[in-house]
Amino acid sequence: MLSPPPSSKQKQKGRAADLKHIEMCARKIAEVAEGNKIVVEKSTVPVRAAESITHILSANTRPGVSFQVLSNPEFLAEGTAVENLLHPDRVLIGGEESVEGDEAVAQLTWIYNHWVPTEKIITTSTWSSELSKLASNAFLAQRVSSINAISALCEATGADVSQVAVAVGKDSRIGSKFLQASVGFGGSCFQKDLLNLVYIAECLNLPEVAMYWQQVTDMNEYQRTRFAKRIVECLFNTVTDKTLAVFGFAFKKNTGDTRESPAIYVCSHLLEESARLNIYDPKVECKQIEHDLTSAAVTSDPERVQQLINIYSDPYEAVKDAHAIVVLTEWDEFISYDYRKMLSVMKKPAFIFDGRKILDHEALIKIGFHTETIGKRFSRNTLLRASGDHFPSFSWTL
Ligand code: UGA
Repeated sequence: MLSPPPSSKQKQKGRAADLKHIEMCARKIAEVAEGNKIVVEKSTVPVRAAESITHILSANTRPGVSFQVLSNPEFLAEGTAVENLLHPDRVLIGGEESVEGDEAVAQLTWIYNHWVPTEKIITTSTWSSELSKLASNAFLAQRVSSINAISALCEATGADVSQVAVAVGKDSRIGSKFLQASVGFGGSCFQKDLLNLVYIAECLNLPEVAMYWQQVTDMNEYQRTRFAKRIVECLFNTVTDKTLAVFGFAFKKNTGDTRESPAIYVCSHLLEESARLNIYDPKVECKQIEHDLTSAAVTSDPERVQQLINIYSDPYEAVKDAHAIVVLTEWDEFISYDYRKMLSVMKKPAFIFDGRKILDHEALIKIGFHTETIGKRFSRNTLLRASGDHFPSFSWTL
């Protein structure tokens, strides 16, 4: 039996960040360091990790050796890391509130000052810096979950989430970024940091705060499942033995990273329903896709999954005899494919499910695709206008 990946609620175990390696690093530094050292904590860590590092260092200190621990979280996003490093929105440096702490902060500020103007460098206490990193990712994830929640309302009411996002984002207090409705957010950071925040809030006996942030990840899970269920519903309530061409497996474009990719969850749901998946991604390695879909967290029957999936290096091959195309990553190349050519080799009626809202939907309807996307349902007028004389005779679900 295939089983869907564990829900975020079930992942209680993984929420407390594992500090094993940080602790090992701290012990190693204490062992080999000489003189006065500044230890800079760069990666996302649970709040108060700097305190633990300081504790280990000071308990193992030797004569003539002293340490200052700074928190300097990075805000680099995959695909734009160098740009983010060279032109950061801000640099955050947190240090101990003491003369020695201030001196260490000044030293690190001096390094950044070589390419970052002083007004963009924020100095805070260590805890504020650590919490700001978690909060930043939580706020970004929350925006995606917020617009995704609105996308469900749009599908139910006939509003268009892209239009709503533009209208909402024009308010300068809200801003337009991170309002792209999608099949859900992925990546190694958002889920982890949200769960970490939930964990911290629970540990501090703040259940309302914990519930609030838990809801952001619950909404993400809902969005992935909702999209997968919609695919099944539209394909006449069964995908058993139907072939679906999956375009994109990475958690976002311009990366081969699949960690927490919504594609894993959507594919796993479709495999659970016995669909055959022809998967194509421009960058993700074949082995990685197989590994993600056959891992113990996703299925208890990896052999069956192996039989149901095929990985392609050519998208035009992947769509042969397929009942539907499912877009799960927003790769630019998907936009410029010859969908007329693809349609000609697919089973009819041919469906396309755009989980990233990147395709020209009217054009797809016009050439004969039954088209579905996030946060929008096509009115009968749109369908008639786009289809002209070729309005399909099968019944539309919308
Ligand atoms: C994220 C943050 O953006 C970085 O600032 C942070 O430094 C990094 O995590 C980290 O902590 O290391 P990243 O995970 O690389 O960066 O990717 P994002 O661009 O933030 O996208 C995350 C997910 O949200 C992707 O799956 C993306 O497709 C999705 N997303 C993003 C949407 O669905 N809609 C949007 O409008 C924006």
